[in-house]
Amino acid sequence: MAQTSARASGTFKIGGDLEVYRLGFGAMRITGAGIWGPPEDPAEARRTVKRVPELGINFIDTADSYGPHVSEELLAEVLAPYPKGMVIATKGGLTRHGPNIWPPLGRPEYLRQCVLMSLRRLKQERIDLWQLHRIDPKVPRDEQFGVMADMQREGLIRHLGLSEVNVEEVKAAGRFFKVATVQNLYNLANRQSEEVLDYCAAQGIGFIPWYPLAAGSLAAPGGPLDTLAKKLSASPSQVALAWVLQRSPVMLPIPGTGKVRHLEENTAAAGITLSDDDFRALDAQGRQAWQQSRR
Ligand SMILES: NC(=O)c1ccc[n+]([C@@H]2O[C@H](COP(=O)([O-])OP(=O)(O)OC[C@H]3O[C@@H](n4cnc5c(N)ncnc54)[C@H](OP(=O)(O)O)[C@@H]3O)[C@@H](O)[C@H]2O)c1
Repeated sequence: MAQTSARASGTFKIGGDLEVYRLGFGAMRITGAGIWGPPEDPAEARRTVKRVPELGINFIDTADSYGPHVSEELLAEVLAPYPKGMVIATKGGLTRHGPNIWPPLGRPEYLRQCVLMSLRRLKQERIDLWQLHRIDPKVPRDEQFGVMADMQREGLIRHLGLSEVNVEEVKAAGRFFKVATVQNLYNLANRQSEEVLDYCAAQGIGFIPWYPLAAGSLAAPGGPLDTLAKKLSASPSQVALAWVLQRSPVMLPIPGTGKVRHLEENTAAAGITLSDDDFRALDAQGRQAWQQSRR
């Protein structure tokens, strides 16, 4: 089971033409505590990145702000020249002032710098998928969307995406460019983005759930996830990931880790298929846990 390939997760075409296996890799955890500075164990982080394509993964998510710069530089150091078909998605629009501090900055000249510097660090001539990490509320959003469209027209970026947005914002951006992906917090126990997910599914927009492994109290020993995991000879986080993958064909989860063992375990979730009954039962329990957490 540990050696299952990400290919078992099936494929999705980002922007209608950039095909990836749906189970990707989140490269935020190959940095230090607070997503600041180098990773605690750089050799293990390098081994983890090297293992990514070996496990069939061809979709990696990063951001200039992870480290900052550490994640993009490590990916390029280990993987460039990239294996054929490898798609690297990055993000910009957040500044870093210290561990866990991420003030947004959406001025067009800064977003342009983000893209130019990511190209340099990633050693690429064009960014496969560039995502606005957050819409900056201090800058007119049309200016942010406008410069994204400009950079795509100029050939610096192939596809454009958004992060932490609602349906109205996706539609507003759609007046400037084709929105290829949306990256929002989503997992079995956090369902605040259900409406955005349904909109993405209807429009053929890739939905990239971040923090996909979380399951809150459902993963507690003896809880529903734990019980189902035992039945399937899997771990609760694998079942949580299998549920996310099964939730929608536009779902592109990017579980993150800096450890080879965890990467292999997460990839093996691509080989788990939940029965319709198990899927529906988990779905209902997840929605219930989400409702309860909001009371
Ligand atoms: N757009 C946004 O605003 C945003 C925000 C946050 C994250 N992201 C993206 O989403 C990706 C995933 O998010 P995330 O890293 O927050 O959440 P996640 O992938 O659900 O969980 C990662 C956490 O779980 C641990 N972990 C991973 N695999 C494990 C396993 N098999 N067993 C036990 N623990 C395991 C990791 O630590 P170890 O390193 O010790 O394995 C890490 O602490 C990030 O890498 C990043 O690319 C985007």
